[in-house]
Amino acid sequence: MEQGRQGFRRARRVMSRSFAGVLVAVGALAAHAQNAVPLDVPFVPTPSETVNAMLKLADVQKSDVVYDLGSGDGRIVIAAARRGARAVGVDIDPQRIDEARRNAKSAGVDERARFVNGDLFRADIHEATVVTLYLLPRVNERLKPKLLAELQPGTRIVSHGFDMGDWKPERTVAVGSTTIYLWVVPAKAQ
Ligand SMILES: C[S@@+](CC[C@H](N)C(=O)[O-])C[C@H]1O[C@@H](n2cnc3c(N)ncnc32)[C@H](O)[C@@H]1O
Repeated sequence: MEQGRQGFRRARRVMSRSFAGVLVAVGALAAHAQNAVPLDVPFVPTPSETVNAMLKLADVQKSDVVYDLGSGDGRIVIAAARRGARAVGVDIDPQRIDEARRNAKSAGVDERARFVNGDLFRADIHEATVVTLYLLPRVNERLKPKLLAELQPGTRIVSHGFDMGDWKPERTVAVGSTTIYLWVVPAKAQ
């Protein structure tokens, strides 16, 4: 029984690593093929069921300001704006930003949804009360110091698929075959 459980955990770790490998390879090929901006993570959209679960896990309210770092076609930003929140997407790829702005306009939420073309590592995120991520393990790890330094205590962070190394999540939820993670930014050390 215990051996079976260990085997399952091992298989899950291998699957997660190979998925990350596929994401990196797809991104490198896409950037090469289009001579586009180098991406830290390729565009892979979050399924709508997972988007809803992420916003529910973060308990997004009208009073929230939601930032999606690496916002792709804008689906998380648009879903947050549909809930009445103000939402901001940051993406380094100008094509994604154009697409996201068009999508927000057709969804009728462009007054509450803003998209910034830039590097997520340089974005001004201080006003966020919720941050959403669908990146990669090493990108989450690189981002962690910025999140802890720049976000206000109490800000909720939700990640699709990948954790944040030794920063243990407050909650994890399984959505189909994927996992979403929730952290809350702690009070600053005095
Ligand atoms: C896996 S997709 C996630 C898209 C969206 N958040 C979702 O969950 O559907 C990652 C996105 O990050 C963007 N990206 C990659 N590196 C970035 C960087 N350094 N700064 C900002 N965006 C980046 C890509 O262009 C892509 O749209």
